[in-house]
Amino acid sequence: MGKILAFLSSPRENGYTTQLVNHVLDGVKSASGEIVIYNLNEDGIKGCQGCFYCRSHEKCAIKDHLYPMYDDIKNADGIVAGFPIYFGSVNGQAKQWIDRMYPMVGDAFVPRFPGKKVVTVYAQANPDSSLFSDAIKSANGFFELYGWDVIESLLVYGNTAQDYEIPKELLDRAYEAGRKLV
Ligand SMILES: Cc1cc2nc3c(=O)[nH]c(=O)nc-3n(C[C@H](O)[C@H](O)[C@H](O)COP(=O)(O)O)c2cc1C
Repeated sequence: MGKILAFLSSPRENGYTTQLVNHVLDGVKSASGEIVIYNLNEDGIKGCQGCFYCRSHEKCAIKDHLYPMYDDIKNADGIVAGFPIYFGSVNGQAKQWIDRMYPMVGDAFVPRFPGKKVVTVYAQANPDSSLFSDAIKSANGFFELYGWDVIESLLVYGNTAQDYEIPKELLDRAYEAGRKLV
């Protein structure tokens, strides 16, 4: 059975990234995958302290709510991450997590835990879907740096209306991506 980790950086519990990640997880469940969820907006998650402990260890020196993820990632088959776009980039909670992922690479950025499958989910209010493509490419690039394969990258955009609903085509892609993760 595949083990899948979900990382959610939106503070909005029913925000669009979380809704779409939940569809990915429905796909994971349909394929009998095991799921572990990390809420990156939780109190008590610290930013990287720049101590370089992880240059000689496979984990971080900070023993906070994120600490269990280092063992979880080692044993995971797939990762799904949901990041809102704030001011043209991923939000602060996502960036804090990306910094804490430095242990994913060792000397000369050689991946320590390669070979995982990844699905990324982004949301932005702007109706121009290509406006923040550089930011999305950059965030997806971090996963590739860890030696992981981004098998699907989904974007909810133009979601300014009160009654906005995620298009069915995106929901279906999310579900299928979840099945492929397992
Ligand atoms: C502080 C802040 C900054 C934002 N900056 C942008 C932006 O630069 N471009 C954009 O299209 N939407 C921007 N948004 C809108 C969010 O991307 C949008 O509401 C998205 O759905 C948030 O993700 P969520 O629904 O998962 O919480 C911003 C929202 C906030 C709160």
